[in-house]
Amino acid sequence: MVIYTQKETMVQALSSVAKNDKIGFVPTMGALHKGHISLVVNALNENHLVVVSIFVNPTQFNNNTDLAKYPRTPEDDISLLKNLKGELIVYLPEVSDLYDDSVSAKKYNFGGLENEMEGKHRKGHFDGVGTIVSKLLRIVKPNIAYFGEKDFQQLQIVKKLVAIEKLPVKIMGCPILREKNGLAMSSRNKRLSAKQFEEATIIYKTLNEVREKFSSKSIKELNALVAERFLQNPNLKLEYFEIANEETLKTAKQKNKSSKYRAFIAAFAGEVRLIDNMPLN
Ligand code: PAF
Repeated sequence: MVIYTQKETMVQALSSVAKNDKIGFVPTMGALHKGHISLVVNALNENHLVVVSIFVNPTQFNNNTDLAKYPRTPEDDISLLKNLKGELIVYLPEVSDLYDDSVSAKKYNFGGLENEMEGKHRKGHFDGVGTIVSKLLRIVKPNIAYFGEKDFQQLQIVKKLVAIEKLPVKIMGCPILREKNGLAMSSRNKRLSAKQFEEATIIYKTLNEVREKFSSKSIKELNALVAERFLQNPNLKLEYFEIANEETLKTAKQKNKSSKYRAFIAAFAGEVRLIDNMPLN
C-alpha cells in the first residue's frame, strides 16, 4: 500500500500502470467501516490496482456543525486498509490539493434527481458531491468506481454526472452492509451512544415492515404506518419517509406494476442524522 497526499505524485505513479491494467476507485470520506471495506474488497477482486481516497469534502456539507463533527480517523483507516491483500493506493489530500482559493461547488443540473429527498433537505449537497466526484474521477481516471447503495440517491446522481460529463468510467453500486441489529453501517454511527445505536434499529425495522407490506397496502397506508412507528419511538425524529421510483427518485403516489420502488428514510438520533433505504419490489 502506498499513501499519497498530493495529486501530482499520485498521478505520476498511476501513469506507469500498464495500459491493460484496470484501475478501481473507491472514494470515501474516511472513518472507514466494514461497508467501505466491502467496496474496496470488491474493487480489489475486479481490478489490478485500487485507489481509495479519504477526503472530507467541505462543499457537500450544508451544516458547519456536521462538517466539524464528521468523524476523522486516518490512522485507523490506514490500518484497516493495510490488512487487505492486493495493490492499493491511498489518496489522503488536504483541501488545498483539490480546491483552489475558493472552496466552492459547481452548480449542476442532474435532470431533477438533485431536487428530491436529500436534495430538498440538504441544499447544495449534490453540487458538492458532483464537484468532488468529478474532480476525483478526472485525477484517478479509474475503469470502475464503487459507491455504496446506502447513499442511493448519490449513486444515481453519480451515474448521471458521468453521463453528463462523458467520463469513461463504469459506476458500480454495492449493497448496504448492516450491523447485527440491522442498522445500516455508516461513519456517522460512531457518533451514536450505545442507547442511540440500539434505538436507531427502528429505521431498519420500519423499512423492513414497509417492504413486507408493500404488496398488500397502499402507499398512503404505508406512509401512515411509518409516521405511527416514529411516534412510538420519540427518541428518533423522522425527517422524511418516501416511497420513490428507483429510476427517477420521484415520490410515488400510487403503485405502477412496471416500476421499481424503494423506500427511503432520513431520521435524527439526537444530533446525528441517519439515512437508509430498501428495495420494495
Ligand atoms: O459517499 C461519500 O462518502 C461521499 O459523498 C463521496 C462520494 C466520497 C464524495 O465526497
